Amino acid sequence: MKILVTGGCGYIGSHTIVDLIDNGFEVISVDSTIRSSEKVLEGIKEITGVAVQNYKIDLCDKAATRTIFQDHPEIKGIIHFAALKSVPESVEKPLDYFNNNLNSLLSVLACQKEFEIPHFIFSSSCSVYGNTAELPVTETTAFMEAECPYARTKQMGEHIVRDFTNANPSLNGVLLRYFNPAGAHESSKIGELTFGPASNLVPVITDTAAGKRESFTVFGSDYSTRDGSCVRDYIHVMDLANAHTKAIQYLTKKANASNCEVFNLGIGQGVTVLEAINAFEKVTGLSLNYEVGSRRPGDVEAIYSNYEQAALKLQWEPTRDIEDIMRTAWAWETRST
Ligand code: NAD
Ligand code: WQD
Repeated sequence: MKILVTGGCGYIGSHTIVDLIDNGFEVISVDSTIRSSEKVLEGIKEITGVAVQNYKIDLCDKAATRTIFQDHPEIKGIIHFAALKSVPESVEKPLDYFNNNLNSLLSVLACQKEFEIPHFIFSSSCSVYGNTAELPVTETTAFMEAECPYARTKQMGEHIVRDFTNANPSLNGVLLRYFNPAGAHESSKIGELTFGPASNLVPVITDTAAGKRESFTVFGSDYSTRDGSCVRDYIHVMDLANAHTKAIQYLTKKANASNCEVFNLGIGQGVTVLEAINAFEKVTGLSLNYEVGSRRPGDVEAIYSNYEQAALKLQWEPTRDIEDIMRTAWAWETRST
C-alpha cells in the first residue's frame, strides 16, 4: 500500500517513513524543505535500503500538490506532518503560521476529496489542550485557550478535519495529539535537526553537552511538582512513528467506529526537567552545565497523557522511556558524519 507522507524530510516524518517501510508500506514524501533537507532521505535509505521519492513542493500551492496524486493514483493514505512548529516564531509571525499550517492542510484535504484517498492522519499536539488543570489529559479533556498562534493552528486544524470528515462520510481522518517527542533512530542515521537555536529541552541538553552552548537554564523551580520543575510527557520519536503505522493499519482494517477519531500519544508518565537532566547524566556519564532560573512565560506547570485509547484501539504501546530518549539523542548528536 502506498502512503503519502507530507513533511517527510522533517523530524517525525522521516522516522515515520522508516517505520512504515519496516512494516511493508511504500512511501512517497512531499516536503518543500523549508525546515529540513533532502539529505535526510540518504539516512532513510541507509537504514531501510529504500530510496524514497520526495516532491519538493510547497503544499500551499494547490496545483502543484495535485500533481503528486495525478502521478500516484495508488496512494491510499496521507500522513500530514508538514507544518511550521516553533512556538516563539509563531508569536512573532502569526500570519506565516496561519497561512502555512492552514493552507497546506486545506490543499491536502482538497486532494483527499478529489482523488478519493480513504485515509488521512493529522499531526496534532498536546498544545491544543492549553493550560489545562485536568491530569492526566484524556482525549475528552476540553481545549483551553491556545497559548500561542502555533497551538491555535493545531486547534483549528483539528476542527477543519472534523468538519471535512463530517461532510465526507466515505473519507477517514485520525487526529494524533503528540506530547513531547524526542530522541532519534537507534542507528543515528536520522534524528532531530534544529533550524536556528534549539529551544526544546532535549536538543538544548545535547547542544550544551556537545559544547555548542555554554549552559542552559532550568525554567522555574517553584512549581507545585515533586521537585519544583515542570512536568512533561516525553515520547520517543520511534514509538511515536510506530503509532502512525498502527493508525493507518487501524483504518485499513476498518476497525474505526467513526470516520474521525482522536488519540493522545504520550507514554502516560510525567517527567520533571530535573529528572530529564538526571536521565541524560546517567546514560552518558556526563555532567551538564545548567542553572536554575525563573519560569518561562507561557509554560504549563505539568501535562502528561492518558493514552488508553491508543493502546485499546490502535494496539499501540510505547516501549521506550526518558533514558532511551537521552541515549539516542546523544548518539545522534555525536554521530560521525
Ligand atoms: P519538522 O519541522 O521537523 O518537519 C516538518 C516538515 O514540514 C519540515 O521538513 C518542513 O520543511 C515541511 N513543511 C513545512 N511546511 C511545508 C509546506 N507548506 N509544504 C511542504 N513542506 C512543508 O517538524 P516535526 O517535529 O517533524 O513535526 C511534524 C508535525 O508534528 C508538525 O505538524 C508539528 O506541528 C507536529 N508536532 C510536533 C511536535 C514536536 O515537538 N516536534 C509536537 C507536537 C506536534
Ligand atoms: C519542556 C520543558 C520547559 C528548555 C513544546 C511546544 C508544544 C509541543 C512540544 C509542538 C518545559 C523546560 C526547556 C530549556 C527548560 N510542540 N525547559 N530549559 O514547551 O513542553 O512543548 O514542544 O506541538 O507545542 O510548546 O517543550 O521542550 O520547550 O520544554 O527548563 O532551555 O523543559 O520549561 O518545562 P514544551 P520544551
